[in-house]
Amino acid sequence: MSSPLSAESARMLAEIVRSRRTVGSFTSEPIDERVVESALELATWAPNHRKTEPWRFTWLGPETRTAVIALNSEIITAKSGAAAAETKRQQWSTIPGWIAVTCRRSSDAFLMEEDYAACCCAVQNLMLAFWSHGVGTKWSTGEVTRHPGYAELVGFDPAEERTVGLIWYGTPAALPTQSRRPITDVVRRRP
Ligand SMILES: Cc1cc2nc3c(=O)[nH]c(=O)nc-3n(C[C@H](O)[C@H](O)[C@H](O)COP(=O)(O)O)c2cc1C
Repeated sequence: MSSPLSAESARMLAEIVRSRRTVGSFTSEPIDERVVESALELATWAPNHRKTEPWRFTWLGPETRTAVIALNSEIITAKSGAAAAETKRQQWSTIPGWIAVTCRRSSDAFLMEEDYAACCCAVQNLMLAFWSHGVGTKWSTGEVTRHPGYAELVGFDPAEERTVGLIWYGTPAALPTQSRRPITDVVRRRP
């Protein structure tokens, strides 16, 4: 069967995958909700064994974001002091978009591992879909995302779901550079 996709599709995918970067700072420009909805929809096209579709996405509004920032401040104050917490509070307050990604738990350890893998694929889809519109992202698994208070604020039962990450999105204020090892370092061939 000949490919249903054009050579141009391959070129564009390579460009999107290679140029996506974890973004550390965003402008205050709001992101069109239709872009967010389309990225969330594309996220759900990730592979998932047994068709469990284990991902859950919680799109956080200003009230919840402020509460998560306050919880994070409490955690940082206890660990590193008020000044460090205030720096983080100011930094986080400028992030325009927040999506909490969680994974449905399974009583079967192997299924749980496979479902978490599927959720990670969904996050990659989400980030690439955003980036195809010029919207940058950062996947965070900071301590707050594993705090029971976070689950309550985000609205999930930690016995039923586990955090995959907090995905921040917005227009990048700057795009960091990154490199990867050559594939000869990481690819083995066997006859
Ligand atoms: C599971 C996971 C968790 C991550 N958590 C964090 C985090 O908490 N803080 C952070 O700065 N970056 C986090 N990152 C982003 C990585 O630091 C980033 O992907 C790495 O530096 C490579 O940069 P790139 O995404 O621009 O290629 C996380 C990435 C993954 C896959």
